[in-house]
Amino acid sequence: MKVLFSEEQIRKRVEEVAQEIDSVFPHEPPIIVGVLNGAFIFTADLVRSMRSFVEIDFIRASSYGYFAETSGKVKITKDMEKSVLGRDVVVVEDILDSGITLNFIKGWLQKKQPRSLRFCVLLDKKALRKEPFVAEHVCFSIDDGFVVGYGLDYGERYRNLSNIQLLVGEENAKCS
Ligand code: IMP
Ligand code: MG
Repeated sequence: MKVLFSEEQIRKRVEEVAQEIDSVFPHEPPIIVGVLNGAFIFTADLVRSMRSFVEIDFIRASSYGYFAETSGKVKITKDMEKSVLGRDVVVVEDILDSGITLNFIKGWLQKKQPRSLRFCVLLDKKALRKEPFVAEHVCFSIDDGFVVGYGLDYGERYRNLSNIQLLVGEENAKCS
């Protein structure tokens, strides 16, 4: 395991991106839609760094198998509770990789007719896109490699690391 982004680096960058989003919505706060499970910590930190009193909801999407390989098929396994009709929506996701998951979520949410739809991702693996997708707000861009921590898992493990680490082989990580 190799630390890619420290707790401090993440904190600073998440604050910057929170301000970025705040400045897009000076009047009416958006609905923040976190994508479970990977984005739960990121969403919690992001909204606490925002100044506007946003509403928060969650969806759950599954595309990956238990470990590191994508199945390529996306399913929404938990819908949101709030209506987004006519509202500004910001989807908060952990990783933008092939683009398949976010493209699916985008189409799915557009059917609910929000006024606007933006995407905020913790990590963007630009080089690995299989479908074009541009997120309006990106904390960090990274190259290939499987990362864990700060909500991200490998086989449901390592989500509770405070930093973001590159998984090299299958190792035991100490939670810091
Ligand atoms: P995409 O559909 O290929 O863009 O997949 C994005 C989803 O795959 C993200 O929501 C993550 O949950 C998961 N994912 C992709 N890369 C990683 C990684 O390096 N670590 C943990 N999860 C990942
Ligand atoms: Mg995910």
